[in-house]
Amino acid sequence: MFNYLFEGTIIHCPNRLELYILENGFLHVESGKVKYIGKTKPENIPADTISYKLTKYQFLIPGFIDTHIHAPQYPNIGLGYDVELLEWLDNYTFPTEIRFNDQDHAKCIYPYVVNRTLKNGTTTASYYGTTNLKSSIILSDVTSAKGQRAFIGLVNMTENAPPELLHENNDVSIKETEEFIKIIFKKKNELVQPVITPRFALSCNEDLLKRLGDLAAKYHVNIQTHISENKKEIEATLETYPGYKNYAEVYDKANLLTKKTILAHAVYLDDNEKNTVLKRGTSISHCPNSNICLHSGFCDVRDFLNRGINVGLGTDVSGGCSPSILDAIRSSITTSNGVSFSKSEEENYKSIDYTDAFYLATLGGAQALRIDDRVGNFKVGKEFDALLIDLDSENTPIDLHLLQDYTSSELLQKFIYLGDDRNINQVFVAGRCVVKDRNVIRTYTG
Ligand code: GUN
Ligand code: ZN
Repeated sequence: MFNYLFEGTIIHCPNRLELYILENGFLHVESGKVKYIGKTKPENIPADTISYKLTKYQFLIPGFIDTHIHAPQYPNIGLGYDVELLEWLDNYTFPTEIRFNDQDHAKCIYPYVVNRTLKNGTTTASYYGTTNLKSSIILSDVTSAKGQRAFIGLVNMTENAPPELLHENNDVSIKETEEFIKIIFKKKNELVQPVITPRFALSCNEDLLKRLGDLAAKYHVNIQTHISENKKEIEATLETYPGYKNYAEVYDKANLLTKKTILAHAVYLDDNEKNTVLKRGTSISHCPNSNICLHSGFCDVRDFLNRGINVGLGTDVSGGCSPSILDAIRSSITTSNGVSFSKSEEENYKSIDYTDAFYLATLGGAQALRIDDRVGNFKVGKEFDALLIDLDSENTPIDLHLLQDYTSSELLQKFIYLGDDRNINQVFVAGRCVVKDRNVIRTYTG
């Protein structure tokens, strides 16, 4: 099962910010794991191995990792970008999420999100569900059924939203979170893990945050939340939490800044906060599309990378208007170019380029989620999460025959700047083919 031999161009980041293109190479997958990658054809290939000889317009890359996406907001994608974050939450987002108190609604909507992200090459997603326990379990079941690798968060909220969306009090919020963690663990699907998800400081209170920090430590699970996304949000947070030096300290004092924490946005963190983030080994989910749609600001990712902070990409659906990490790659480059325009020549600022952004979308995301021992590139021993890219697919948006011999790096750039899901021919998660010829094919309950 899940034995493959690929021959052709293989592209990945073996290390942080390092792109490697192997031409005329071989990648051997045995039982869903990378057994060999290299120039010479491996020997003693098991008889049941499926062989792929890639064409000159095809190449293999690691699966995309979306480090921040709100599954219940999918129906709202593209709507409400006339206002900023806090108003958008009140007017568009909270009413949309309240509908997930109805489990039939969750059963109807969640398959669309998972299908769409898989087709766009998202092999791992870190999802926010809602405050509703049963609906959030349904989201985990849908990702399991479709074979996506996923972190699923039951959202904690006790403050500043309509009562239908809030947990009644801290005790209920903690009890339901613990139950949620136990239910997901009991399903014993290695690909689907729970993640502690305080929505953001304004949705919680000091006691709830601290108890969530304790829960994360008790179960050794990941943590995700939002930080410093919008100026009015920061102002309201510091008013709500007087006595704290800054936004990051609110989470830090609750032991929520750990090696397994992902902070989304982080547009306006100051030097002090960045030092804390680095010291704690906490990572950033860069959500460039959302930061623009919701008028939040430009996040300086180059600065995070220079400081040695882990960064992955997030679509932040539906703050972001695209479910595609390929779009996040492009938006991250555009944003970084935007940041560079405000720098003086003396600063010698280098905006991120397509190789950096490709790293953020693959190994960077894996490092941020702390799953880089398993996925993120094609190092021997890792699970095979991969995309078979075909630039010459049916209805391809790329006119390949304008020039004759593009180099492999040029083909990668064409895919990054012009490609879309029509160029993502097959998607593999842990060796299982979950999208074939652009159709989601597997129904799997692990
Ligand atoms: N901050 C708190 N909740 C949200 C959300 O749903 N989306 C975004 N972009 N920011 C948030
Ligand atoms: Zn978000």
